[in-house]
Amino acid sequence: MNTGILKSPGPIKKVLVIQYSQTGQLTALTEQIIAPLKADPRIAVQVEALVPLKPFPFPWSFFSFLDAFPESAHMVPPALAPLSLKGDEDFDLVILPYQVWFLAPSQPITAFLKHPLAQRVLRGKPVVTVIACRNMWLSAQEKLKSLLAGAGARLIDNVVLTDPGPLLATFITTPRWLLSGKKAGFWGMPAAGLTDAQIRGSRRYGLALREGLLNHREKDNPPLLAGLGAVQVDPRLYFSEKTGTRSFFVWGKLLLAAGQPGSWQRVPLLALYVAFLIMMIVTLVPTSLAVQALLRPFMRQWLSKIEAQFEQPSGSSTERSHIYED
Ligand SMILES: Cc1cc2nc3c(=O)[nH]c(=O)nc-3n(C[C@H](O)[C@H](O)[C@H](O)COP(=O)(O)O)c2cc1C
Repeated sequence: MNTGILKSPGPIKKVLVIQYSQTGQLTALTEQIIAPLKADPRIAVQVEALVPLKPFPFPWSFFSFLDAFPESAHMVPPALAPLSLKGDEDFDLVILPYQVWFLAPSQPITAFLKHPLAQRVLRGKPVVTVIACRNMWLSAQEKLKSLLAGAGARLIDNVVLTDPGPLLATFITTPRWLLSGKKAGFWGMPAAGLTDAQIRGSRRYGLALREGLLNHREKDNPPLLAGLGAVQVDPRLYFSEKTGTRSFFVWGKLLLAAGQPGSWQRVPLLALYVAFLIMMIVTLVPTSLAVQALLRPFMRQWLSKIEAQFEQPSGSSTERSHIYED
């Protein structure tokens, strides 16, 4: 019998969104991006919130903050509360927002990517990564790419938002925020974290993803976010990141051997390490920036290569941004 009622065809695209944030910054950014997808009845959005069984503190104590570095750097996954995923879902797109911890993906994200269920869900799927961090994300994205490759997923886009404050100021404002919860600017320093305008402006990525999905472009015509100024690479940080990653690796190995997270055996080594870390930040980062400024004419080609490499796949150009201004 024809009742005259048109049956809704139901969603035609299914999107999985991963969520973890300590201060709510990354969640606010993610919400901006996925709002246009959630508002469209043709797209079904499933949000998977990651919950570490042993929660990471916020604000962090000085010791717990440092104590998170060996596992972060060596990508040792913490246990997660059971996921809502079953493993047999068939998503059209996965949106993977993450924050950087010690030049690596944050531990809950690493745990997700190493989770057997996630690996089943991710196999063969297109993934959009969204990074919100202080400003050093190059090494973390390399590591994340290797985790995605291990899971058989395809990285099709990468959006990066970094704290807009001057580089050296962020070495003070970010730890202050993380260790005290205080985000506002002080003594002439800028506020820590992203600005509201940066977060609001990220809606354009959601609008472009919606358009791409509804035109089935995620399958064989990515990236979906080219021309939207998704990534700005500061290639001058590459050298500091490489050196930092190497030191995190060596010290991290020592600390992993010394004891479990939170154990007293780590305390003396961490005290030694923090002295080394502060020395590195106050000497290595400015020295490396100064040397690069002096050598810039000779390094231009090399820096451009690094820039082009890390801008992939979404790029820094902005020619399509105006289309998605609303
Ligand atoms: C333990 C820890 C280590 C961090 N290390 C880095 C880092 O290496 N590079 C960076 O740019 N930001 C780093 N950050 C800042 C975070 O990426 C992020 O901007 C901040 O923690 C806010 O994220 P949220 O959304 O989880 O609140 C670190 C934060 C934490 C808590």
